Amino acid sequence: MDITNIKGIGPEKAKKLMNAGYSTVESIAFSSPRDLSLDSGIPEETARTIIASAKLIIRSKENTKGGKLVEILSGKDAKKVLQNMDHITTGIKGLDRILGGGIETCAVTEFYGPAKAGKTQICHQLCVTVQLPREKGGLEAPALYIDTERTVKYDHIKSVAERFGLDPDLASDNVFYAYTMNSEALYELVHKNLDEVVQNRGIKLVVVDCLTGHFRAEYCGRESLPLRQQKINRIIHDLLRIAVSHDLAVVVTNQVHSQPDLYGKSENPIGGHTVAHGVTFRLGLSTRKYNMRTVTVVDAPALPPDEAYFAITSRGLIDINPKDLNSKCPIKFPGEGEIREREVESVEEAETVTD
Ligand SMILES: Nc1ncnc2c1ncn2[C@@H]1O[C@H](COP(=O)(O)OP(=O)(O)O)[C@@H](O)[C@H]1O
Ligand SMILES: [Mg+2]
Repeated sequence: MDITNIKGIGPEKAKKLMNAGYSTVESIAFSSPRDLSLDSGIPEETARTIIASAKLIIRSKENTKGGKLVEILSGKDAKKVLQNMDHITTGIKGLDRILGGGIETCAVTEFYGPAKAGKTQICHQLCVTVQLPREKGGLEAPALYIDTERTVKYDHIKSVAERFGLDPDLASDNVFYAYTMNSEALYELVHKNLDEVVQNRGIKLVVVDCLTGHFRAEYCGRESLPLRQQKINRIIHDLLRIAVSHDLAVVVTNQVHSQPDLYGKSENPIGGHTVAHGVTFRLGLSTRKYNMRTVTVVDAPALPPDEAYFAITSRGLIDINPKDLNSKCPIKFPGEGEIREREVESVEEAETVTD
């Protein structure tokens, strides 16, 4: 729906709002009068009336979950909305279980961990699983991958899609892509363009891999810390607004830094309290032997701390059991080892025949 449908918005105001990145009714309904006024130049009082009118439209919409949160709800209605959020399967049963069903929509989920922990791999897998039919744990919708490190591999997306029974070409076409080369570009994209893109394309998963990398590289030294935190805070705030207003899932990745402590050193996620308070679900990844990894629910609104185990394979991430962590070799995707054995057997058979 066009923003000119909102009472009080004529062509001139519409232009100002669109230029400031407020191109959907949702983006206006969920913004604050101060932000709307600062971003668009419309007086704060007018912004207040426009937001109220936008909320009326959102309230009248039938098929919205996050949209219900623009108004005060009775406990009964709140339970209905909050307990019925959609989830996207991670493709790892153990992880889905500790997450209460998968990655929740209308929320921001963070995966943090050291290099090679599997953050980017998880993002690739989710871009596929969000496309699965609902009965298989997906939302039958495309994904947007916001890449800050140039690590996206479409060939890998295809292999994962094949494993989940999707057409590899169609599935990889359904992963929209944006590369942001510095923190300012990331901020602009999230603040100004994201809202319209997710609405127009029907996107149900937005990945930001990695949320904090640019900030870490660009804002060095203690004196720049407040500004860095303020910018990160703003991005998370915008991401949550978009997640709630469009019923979609946002997944961000985060790096860790080592901190010496009494026991040697510990690895803490970047971004301190800003990220910790800003994200809804916080998961930590750690490397184990070979291609095995542990994923831990560190913080979630109503989930106990718990952990699950997986292995990184050429076909994506697969469940492993705790006892597999003692394995003497890397874990293979089911069938991979057997196929090789069958090939060897057939060569031997062929040799026997020629003998
Ligand atoms: N196609 C593949 N098959 C098997 N393992 C892979 C494949 N691609 C990447 N990996 C492994 O995944 C790990 C990197 O995971 P990644 O998600 O990129 O880490 P992070 O983003 O946390 O730094 C590496 O150990 C790498 O060997
Ligand atoms: Mg990565």
